[in-house]
Amino acid sequence: MQNLPWSADRTPLMLAPMQGLTNDALRNYFIQTVAPDVVFTEFVRVQTQSRKRIAKAELAEIRAHDSHVPLVVQLIGHTASALAEAAQRVQEAGCQHLNLNLGCPYGRMATGATGGELLREPDKLGELMISLRKATDGSLSVKCRTGYDDPQQIFQLLPIFEECRLDYLILHPRTVEQKYAGEADHQLTAEVVKRTSLPVIANGDINAAATGRRLLQETGVAGLMLGRGALADPWLFQRIRGLAPDQVDAAQRRKELTNYVAALLELYLVKFCGERQALMKLKDLLNFIPDPELQRALGKLKRANTVATFLSRLAAIRGK
Ligand SMILES: Cc1cc2nc3c(=O)[nH]c(=O)nc-3n(C[C@H](O)[C@H](O)[C@H](O)COP(=O)(O)O)c2cc1C
Repeated sequence: MQNLPWSADRTPLMLAPMQGLTNDALRNYFIQTVAPDVVFTEFVRVQTQSRKRIAKAELAEIRAHDSHVPLVVQLIGHTASALAEAAQRVQEAGCQHLNLNLGCPYGRMATGATGGELLREPDKLGELMISLRKATDGSLSVKCRTGYDDPQQIFQLLPIFEECRLDYLILHPRTVEQKYAGEADHQLTAEVVKRTSLPVIANGDINAAATGRRLLQETGVAGLMLGRGALADPWLFQRIRGLAPDQVDAAQRRKELTNYVAALLELYLVKFCGERQALMKLKDLLNFIPDPELQRALGKLKRANTVATFLSRLAAIRGK
């Protein structure tokens, strides 16, 4: 248990890695407002052809992490030697916790299979995991789908994960082929918990506090990872913990939402170069706020071309 990025007395609620969205500014917003127990980088591409293995900007972002909330660096790549060298680079940059992406349905690189595609080659995956384990001093985990095209494949993968002494497994119970269609099958999550000694973290479609708490009670998972549900409502962390109400009325929802977007805008104006880019990144996030009552108002917000217009439309939502 000593190798885990959370303390033994916690049921960790983690913020999921989401490429293009969970940059350091967004992670810091979450850390300051709702304190996830663990946060993840967006996937970090391991370059097979460059000896640097990892882009300079990504290493700088890892170095800059300065918080009591542990940061897990998620690698996506292939080739045992390149991944092991990448692991060394990120550890030299101060990271203690590594994760391998075994789920991304769009992860294939020109140089070979990565992400979810690796599930098609279990033998290669085994070698790769053993090499990554040897190169990692701190915790090593995977974030995995249930299989490439067959959800039962997970039961063939468990011995590979156990043999390489993974510290924990994050399961998004859809197949790679399924992408985001259908529903996450958490009955399968419960079955996986029964059949492995590894701590399992449940991920997928946890969009309401009751869903999160039910999963914790019924499946025996060690913790939860929140993705799109947290982007739509950062307070979901506190709601699952029982530290904020499960549901709020429309006025409170508008207040929480506008505070969230306004705070992020401030952070994005510092992080990104110029108003246009900051607004563009923020609009990417707005696509993940599916609020039926506010759809028209959010649509107008997305069409704002200046920060001044954006802020006045945000104020209109708050004062509705
Ligand atoms: C826009 C977007 C980007 C994502 N990027 C990553 C990523 O970089 N690494 C990863 O492991 N999963 C990534 N995912 C998958 C999520 O981490 C998560 O597994 C998935 O969305 C299911 O959880 P949710 O229903 O809580 O969102 C991404 C998902 C979305 C929607």
